[in-house]
This record gives sequence, structure tokens and C-alpha cells, in this order.
Amino acid sequence: MSKVYSLSEIEAHHSKDSLYLSIHGDVYDVTDFIDQHPGGQEKLLETGTSIVTDLFENAAHSDDARQLLKTFVIGKLAEEDFQSQSSEAFKEDSASTLSTQSQESSTLFLILSSFLLIVVSAIYFGR
Ligand code: HEM
Repeated sequence: MSKVYSLSEIEAHHSKDSLYLSIHGDVYDVTDFIDQHPGGQEKLLETGTSIVTDLFENAAHSDDARQLLKTFVIGKLAEEDFQSQSSEAFKEDSASTLSTQSQESSTLFLILSSFLLIVVSAIYFGR
């Protein structure tokens, strides 16, 4: 079974001598990779956080990079720390779904009112 790390345990390893990062709920020891990272050492060291799922995804890493990442895995992020992170992502997701829904309903409203206007004008001017 893989080791479970709390967020504070990972955060204790955030230097050039020992660097742990968490991506998608897994924990990686990327210390030996710092110097080799094609995106630069500072991208790994100056993340401002130990949970770098979004940073990793936003940099549009290749499948090769994802395969390489797997070789550094040392365990999992503790459930409560991972969940608090996912629930934030969930909140963002549902907020964007809501705004898409309200956008859709206002478009529908616009179409219906235009249609009504055409019908009323046709009746009025048709006389
Ligand atoms: C921790 C595990 C990581 C691994 C194993 C990794 C691996 C790689 C690899 C192999 C590349 C070369 C291009 C590719 O194959 O996609 C790359 C590029 C890059 N990485 Fe990472 N990366 C990691 C984390 C990060 C993080 C956390 C960031 C951002 C904060 C980042 C930012 C970038 C950027 C900007 C490039 C593009 C460099 C360029 O094309 O000039 N990487 N990474």
C-alpha cells in the first residue's frame, strides 16, 4: 500500500534539497528532476503551493511528461486534503455550469420574445 502524506508533510519538503509536489491526489518526489525540468527549475520550486495540479495541467504537458511523472510517485495525498481541494474545484465547476445555464435561458428568452414581436407585428400590420 502506498504511503499517505498530509499537506503539511508535503509542504515541509519544498526546497532544492527535497521537493515533494502533489498532482491529482498523488504525491511525487521530484528532487532529482529539478535540474532536468525542461520548463526550468524555478517553475518547480517557485510554485507558491505544494499542490500543483492546475499548474501542471495549465502548462499542457505531453504524454511523455505524464509517463515521466509516474516514475517519481511516492504516495497519496491524505483524503481530507485532497477532498478540500476537489470540493473547491467542484464549486468552480458547478458555478460555471450555473452561469452556462443562465446564459442558455436568456438566449431562449430573447428568441421567444423576438418571435412574439414578429407574430404581434404580423397580426397588427396584416390588418
Ligand atoms: C512535477 C512534475 C513535472 C514533470 C515531471 C514535468 C515534466 C516536464 C517535461 C517532460 C516537459 C517538456 C515538455 C513536455 O514533454 O511536455 C515540461 C515542460 C514544461 N513544464 Fe513541466 N513538469 C512538471 C511540473 C511542472 C510544473 C508544476 C510547472 C508549472 C509551474 C511546469 C511547467 C512547465 C512548462 C512551462 C514547460 C514548457 C517549457 C517549454 O516548452 O519551454 N512543469 N515539463
